[in-house]
Order: sequence, then C-alpha cells, then structure tokens
Amino acid sequence: MVELKTPSVGVGQTALFVAWMRQLESDRPDALFRDPLAAAMLSALAEDPVLADVAEVIKQTHTSARGFPTYFAVRTRFFDDEVLSAVQRGIRQVVTLAAGVDGRTVRLDLPAGTRWFEVELPEMTAFKEALIEQSGLTLACERRGVAADLREDWQSPLRAAGFDPSQPTVWLVEGLLMYLTDAAGDAILAGLTELSAPGSQLMLEHLKAAMLEEEGRPVRERVEEQGASWLSARDDLKTWVGGHGWQAEVYAGDDPRIGHGRTVAPLPACWLATGTLTGSAGSPMV
Ligand SMILES: C[S@@+](CC[C@H](N)C(=O)[O-])C[C@H]1O[C@@H](n2cnc3c(N)ncnc32)[C@H](O)[C@@H]1O
Repeated sequence: MVELKTPSVGVGQTALFVAWMRQLESDRPDALFRDPLAAAMLSALAEDPVLADVAEVIKQTHTSARGFPTYFAVRTRFFDDEVLSAVQRGIRQVVTLAAGVDGRTVRLDLPAGTRWFEVELPEMTAFKEALIEQSGLTLACERRGVAADLREDWQSPLRAAGFDPSQPTVWLVEGLLMYLTDAAGDAILAGLTELSAPGSQLMLEHLKAAMLEEEGRPVRERVEEQGASWLSARDDLKTWVGGHGWQAEVYAGDDPRIGHGRTVAPLPACWLATGTLTGSAGSPMV
C-alpha cells in the first residue's frame, strides 16, 4: 500500500476543504453529483490533525458564509456538464490545472479513449495518486498526473506526460487563479492558449473583484486561516479571455440559469466562464 502524505497547510489544504464541500453535497438526497473520491479522502484522513483544522474552518465558514456548500455544488455541476458536453462532441483530451482532490476522473461517465491530465504541485500529485490507489476506485478514463508548479514551466512536463497539442483540449481551471498573481494568471492563460488546437474549450473560475475589498473579508479570513491568500480577482473575464482568442460566456456563481433550482448566497462571489477558441486574438493556434 502506498503511503498517504497529507498536503501541507496552505493552498493545498484548500483542496481538502473543497473536497469536503463535495462530500456534503454527495450526502444530500437531491445531490447534483456524487463524489466517491471525496468520501475516500475523508475516510483516509479521519485521524489526521490536518482534517481537524479543515473541520474548524468549515464550522466557521458556516457562520460567516453559509453559501459555501451550495456554491461549490453548483460550480462542480456546472463544469461537470460543460466537460461532458465537450467530450460528447468528440474532444478526448482534458487538462485540469490545479486538480487538487477533484474526483471527476473517477466519477464522470466518459467516452472510451478519454485521456485526462491533472497538473498539480508535486506534493498534491503524490497525495492524489496514493489516495486513488488506496481507495480502490476505478478510473473512468486514462488519467495522468503531472507534477508541476503552474507559476513555472508546466507546459514541458505536460507535453512529456503525453499531452498532444494537435488535438483539441478541454481546459479546466477551477479554484486556482485567485491564489496566483494577475501576472501568473495571465501567463497561464497565454500558456494554455498556446497549446490549444482549434475547437478547444476553456472552463475557468475567478473571484469577483469585490472579494478583495471589505465585502470579501469574512471569507478571505477563513481562507487565510488555512494558510492561503487570495492574490487576484477580476470582473473583466470576457474581455480578458477574449484578448487571448477565446469567445466566452460568463456567469455569476449565483446566476439562477446555472443553479439547478438551488439558490446560491452572495458569498463567496465568483465568476464561472466557458470559452471556445476562435483564434481571432492571442497566440497562434497549432
Ligand atoms: C482550492 S484548491 C482547488 C482544487 C480543485 N481544482 C478543486 O476544485 O477541487 C487549489 C489547488 O491549487 C493548487 N495550486 C495552488 N498553487 C499552485 C501552483 N502554483 N501550481 C500548481 N497547483 C497549485 C493547490 O495545490 C490546490 O490543490
């Protein structure tokens, strides 16, 4: 059996928090999805003090931002539907940047031939691989973990892992950009655009700018208690991704059109965007 080494405090711990949110949703009779990897994580870390810290943050979050579990449920289902729609249209290559403990590679109903790359910091990559192995869950696709820091050269390790830039790709950037500077986020968007063949799809989440002001303080403090910090937020997602050649649709996290009947509370306040590569701006397509 592989050793499970819990990711250290800081932004890695936020991945445990979000997985726990998915577990809360999975337990509901009307769940928008069920995530067995989240359950496996909670059971594997049951005796780990790190999980007790996360539990404390969750308790406090419930008083300062009751909207958390619903927001994460809606966000997860929204990107689930978008990924499934893209693979049903024929895309077979998916890349998640900062995958954390995301369970989509075990829980989505994916067509044969789907190859899914999960780029993450080395420590989280090792934890995830050990967790999947220990859980005994069956992968729903060919999964390849790629250990890389997204502030550095992540494209080379991705290519080395077998990524094919001549094939259209679904890119998933969920719960990442707020933890990086604007410059780092911009470099990531430019980098993934450079690797995108025509027909590629982008799915991306970002914070609303107000979350860096007074309005976001209660949630920001909870994030900081986990040893992480929000470094960026933006309200110009459509223009921003458009400037890199992507035709985007942008939804507020509490937009009833994506809520499946759930009402998302005002906090946390995020944007969810989907984009199709048009090639009319940004880097040349492969
Ligand atoms: C809030 S979690 C989101 C995880 C996952 N996308 C989800 O929604 O469950 C943030 C993740 O970003 C990863 N991360 C943060 N900075 C990173 C970096 N520079 N390079 C790669 N991954 C990073 C962390 O390890 C963590 O797993």
